[in-house]
Amino acid sequence: MNTEPTTAGFEITREEMIRFLNEDLAGEYQAIIAYIVYSQVLKGAEYTDIAGELEQHAGEELQHAIKIAKQIDYLGGMPEVTPKPVITSEDAITMLKADLENERNTVARYRLRIRQAEAMGEYALSETLRGIIVQEQDHEIDLAAALGIDVPLPEDSLHGRRNGLDRLHKVQP
Ligand SMILES: [Fe+2]
Ligand SMILES: [Fe+2]
Repeated sequence: MNTEPTTAGFEITREEMIRFLNEDLAGEYQAIIAYIVYSQVLKGAEYTDIAGELEQHAGEELQHAIKIAKQIDYLGGMPEVTPKPVITSEDAITMLKADLENERNTVARYRLRIRQAEAMGEYALSETLRGIIVQEQDHEIDLAAALGIDVPLPEDSLHGRRNGLDRLHKVQP
């Protein structure tokens, strides 16, 4: 039995892929900024470990941004320069929850992007994204552990995205 997820219905154009990757890149910039700031302003002995982890996440998000920008350039696009907005707060729980929500959205976006890349036959892009998603899931796990909760289930229902997301609900992985 073939258990590979189908990519039928996930076909997008090169221009659409460039646009979606630029949205992903804006999210990576957001993550870099959030992790830089949150890692420094998190206060309290109970957050010492997670603050160190957030600092490490910042470096990983920078590598993700470079990899995504490289793929955008390869596809003939111009990498985005503006980050998505970063929530600022003095409250540790608010910061950690904002990070967790962003990671959850990021994982959902890359799950879709991998299928779109494979539908296009862009296997190097899909391999790059698979490497990134492994780290994003680790970030989710670190944040959920710091908050003392389970990792939320993948959110595959980002709003208003065509070319596959509506199908994600029907496709059995
Ligand atoms: Fe990232
Ligand atoms: Fe991340």
